[in-house]
Amino acid sequence: MTTTIHTPRDLFFDQLREIHSMEVQLCQSMPDLVALCTNESLRELLENHIRQIGIQIAEIAAIFERHGQSPGGDTCKVIAGLIERGTTHLEAVEVPHTRDLIVIAHCLRIEHYEMAAYEITTRLAGGLGMMREPAILGELHAEEKAMAFLLLKWDSPAATKVISPIQ
Ligand SMILES: [Fe+2]
Repeated sequence: MTTTIHTPRDLFFDQLREIHSMEVQLCQSMPDLVALCTNESLRELLENHIRQIGIQIAEIAAIFERHGQSPGGDTCKVIAGLIERGTTHLEAVEVPHTRDLIVIAHCLRIEHYEMAAYEITTRLAGGLGMMREPAILGELHAEEKAMAFLLLKWDSPAATKVISPIQ
């Protein structure tokens, strides 16, 4: 079902529904990535993020509830596509360390897409004069940004050799 969007408030909830669908899909698919990682610290990073996603979903659900809205049942097709693409890549790789690098590449794309979604939604909440939502969503945006940063920092010698800083 597609929701009709007339006002910036409609748009805010439309964007929040996309985010909700994203997080639910990631929560379901990330354990498969964890199972494919060979590096312990990368696995721990992803496991921590899965726990964080669970809390994020609850925070988003609370926003819908406070405003008498529902997250709905639409699926964010962009994240579904990113998950599918990442899985195809991972299945093609047999060398463990290379597979860890693909997990990083895959998750980094997802984190940046999430950051964009949280940023616009946080800004819409601010523009609509919502009291609590800009701070809550701003915090979730910061969590995705921190995850993107940590993905490039995990302490594997194999990764630090091949992922160099941008000059
Ligand atoms: Fe994330």
